[in-house]
Amino acid sequence: MAGRMVGRGGRHEVHRSRRPSAARLAIRASLADPTGSQRTHQGPLMNVRTLLKPERLAIASVLVMQLLGTAAEAGFLLLVTRTGLALSVGDKTVGLYGDTTIEVSTALISAGVFVLVRFALGMTAAYSMSRSLGRVALRVRQVMIDAWLDASWPVKQRIAPGRVHQLLCNYSQTAATITSSATRFLAGAASLCVLLATAFAVQPWVTGFATIVVGLLGVLMRPLQTRVKHAVRGASNGLLAYSQTVAEAESMALEIEVLGVRDATSRWMKDAADEAVAGVRTAFLAQSSISPAYQFGAYSVIVALLTVGARFGVDDVGTIGAVLLLMLRSLSYGQSMQSQRGAFLSSQVYLDQLSHELKKWSADPAPIGTDTGVKATGVEARGLSFSYDGRDAALDAIDFDIRTGEVVGVVGPSGSGKSTLAELLLGLRSSGGQLRVDGVVVDEADRQWWSQHVSLVPQNHELLTGTVADNVRFLRPAISNQDVESACIAAGIHDEILSLPDGYDTHLGERGASLSGGQRQRICIARALAGQPRLLVMDEPTSALDAISEAAVLRSIADLRGKVTVVIVTHRPACLDVCDRVLALNNGRLEHFGLVADLRVAAIDGDARRGASRRPLHL
Ligand SMILES: Nc1ncnc2c1ncn2[C@@H]1O[C@H](COP(=O)(O)OP(=O)(O)O)[C@@H](O)[C@H]1O
Ligand SMILES: [Mg+2]
Repeated sequence: MAGRMVGRGGRHEVHRSRRPSAARLAIRASLADPTGSQRTHQGPLMNVRTLLKPERLAIASVLVMQLLGTAAEAGFLLLVTRTGLALSVGDKTVGLYGDTTIEVSTALISAGVFVLVRFALGMTAAYSMSRSLGRVALRVRQVMIDAWLDASWPVKQRIAPGRVHQLLCNYSQTAATITSSATRFLAGAASLCVLLATAFAVQPWVTGFATIVVGLLGVLMRPLQTRVKHAVRGASNGLLAYSQTVAEAESMALEIEVLGVRDATSRWMKDAADEAVAGVRTAFLAQSSISPAYQFGAYSVIVALLTVGARFGVDDVGTIGAVLLLMLRSLSYGQSMQSQRGAFLSSQVYLDQLSHELKKWSADPAPIGTDTGVKATGVEARGLSFSYDGRDAALDAIDFDIRTGEVVGVVGPSGSGKSTLAELLLGLRSSGGQLRVDGVVVDEADRQWWSQHVSLVPQNHELLTGTVADNVRFLRPAISNQDVESACIAAGIHDEILSLPDGYDTHLGERGASLSGGQRQRICIARALAGQPRLLVMDEPTSALDAISEAAVLRSIADLRGKVTVVIVTHRPACLDVCDRVLALNNGRLEHFGLVADLRVAAIDGDARRGASRRPLHL
């Protein structure tokens, strides 16, 4: 769904198509729809089938290994019980079927070989499963991160803090274990079949009866499995809510410290943790009760089996011993199948949640465009409008032209639409009306060209854990060391960087912890300038700076005049001194667009005329 826009002619929807990326689409296609008909309108899908399909060879190989391994195990169990029986009565030979007998030593060597084969196959299967698990975990994470990166800005902005982190770090891993639980479940089923078949060959009646009871036990476990699924769903929601609460508190560490609300925060966190823990506890209980419940049923079967054996007068001790051993082993495979089924259902809950999130992220995709500007014609806005989700217009049909190389200040009271205008200028939201930058309609711009053409100095100056140069370059390898240095000179931070221990290669600690607010802000300005943008949008660029740093930054902005079109959202009168013109917004309307001096005169006149009840133009 495209964003709702208000144009001069009223509300209208702007339809946008997906941005293609061959590699991403290929991996998504494999997950989205194995039949090849990609359902792009729903975005990438993740479900059990699409995750397991690419792993079918790996799963099949594990099953074959498991079958062979269990055959070896069955052979081993038969041999040891019969050998034990032979030894207990002092026989030198071990009876197999009918009249076939072998030496005790041969029997023991054969049992040893069976054990070795079982071990080798078990280890190989484990290795194969671990690789498969790794592949699936990587794929799930890649699909999630790509979907998040491809989500439009309005969608990204709505995602609660901590959510992406939790989904990527924990949910994806848990969802990926669906491969191992599915494989183990199937392997358990294969083993069970082999063992039951062997037991059947030895004693058909008793085994047949037991097989029916094992099947019945599986059916009786169903309500418990459903309970597990519900409990895990509750637990996963609780964990997600908890991680969001933690992220919120983390982002407000400063406020918590300053406002002295440590104890209240601790209680707030405890309440949130209580809910999360209660969910996890219920899920744990449900999952953990599978084994004892099954065991209870299984042991009852053994008793029933013996009763039936006694009833039918089975008196061959060797046969009873072997069948009992095989039955016990079969039931333990049955028990493992039930536990794996529980684990499978739990992973499925996480997978469903990821899939649900993917759909949300893929809604309202970022625009696709191919246009690139050739002429530097500045910014032209005609009937520029925007409203958030059907609310009143945040910007209401405004017209303006900004010349190339001009420095324009945007002022206005809080909520007047300054940030909205900045986001429209950056192409982060689709607007009603028309917005052209250097001749290109913003929604139709080629995204690659656009991101090189336009840049931003955000209000929050976030830094990466890395060096100064890493932070200025910001994952754009095409930006040379020379570009990094020029940008830092332009941002007025070059000399301070040179005075750091390793200059541009100085590590800034986690998230740039070793710098002052002003230094961080100027590194963000350098980051914005490093790509040599044609249009630079700044949101309160000097808000964290002292007067001296502010003056340095303003001098740098003044130096950009004529080279870069600069739009500065500001509350600081000093910032307006470097502006050629100022654009004043009030309640989403353009109130003034002209010289700074005229605005000041207008504001003073307006105040004098309208009295104190009228809000000033926030200079
Ligand atoms: N993400 C959002 N969702 C809904 N409404 C928003 C959002 N951001 C801003 N608004 C609303 O849009 C109007 C303009 O906001 P904004 O552009 O942030 O103003 P300013 O930056 O001038 O303070 C305000 O009424 C604000 O409540
Ligand atoms: Mg704002």
